[in-house]
Amino acid sequence: MSNAADVTHLPIESWTEDAFDRLVATNLKAPFFLVKALLPLFSPHASVILVGSVSAFIGHQDAAVYGAAKAGLLSLARGLTYELKDRGIRVNGLSPGPTVTDTFRPLGPERQAAIYDELRRTVPLHRLGTTTELAKAAVYLASDESAYTAGTVLRVDGGIGELAY
Ligand SMILES: NC(=O)c1ccc[n+]([C@@H]2O[C@H](COP(=O)([O-])OP(=O)(O)OC[C@H]3O[C@@H](n4cnc5c(N)ncnc54)[C@H](OP(=O)(O)O)[C@@H]3O)[C@@H](O)[C@H]2O)c1
Repeated sequence: MSNAADVTHLPIESWTEDAFDRLVATNLKAPFFLVKALLPLFSPHASVILVGSVSAFIGHQDAAVYGAAKAGLLSLARGLTYELKDRGIRVNGLSPGPTVTDTFRPLGPERQAAIYDELRRTVPLHRLGTTTELAKAAVYLASDESAYTAGTVLRVDGGIGELAY
């Protein structure tokens, strides 16, 4: 599973070329070369999970670069599955919506709570997801329970990527 990400969100005026390259290197290039490096180790029924984001599907504040890199990553699930299908390797995307993690912790508890309130208002299911819910989806994709699921994206996002609010 490729889960690490540069979660920088900035308005267009604030992006430098270095920051852009760093985000794309972390969120798109690194997962691709990670899969490449691991090819000799994959078993015939390996399942690769690329963690994307709802930002690949919807526009929102300061997320143009992050969303574009995540869209590219989720596209890799299709392209790599096609390329690796005859070796029995499946690649799928897992696309979280707003989820409670450590990502906003550095901003302090008050700012974090304000951001969560703001996000909650955008989610059709009226709440943020939990890491346990994401983990259960990852276990499904990693296991043979999803043996007929290949090259697609499982959205665990409270409906934010699909539903009007
Ligand atoms: N939380 C959400 O609401 C949400 C929504 C949609 C998608 N996602 C996606 O879900 C995944 C997990 O998100 P999260 O909320 O857990 O994010 P997070 O708390 O910000 O954690 C990101 C992780 O990525 C690691 N990382 C960042 N840059 C790296 C690099 N260059 N090399 C190695 N590791 C690096 C960080 O390591 P350090 O701590 O050492 O820097 C950290 O462990 C990400 O792919 C994110 O895009 C999250």
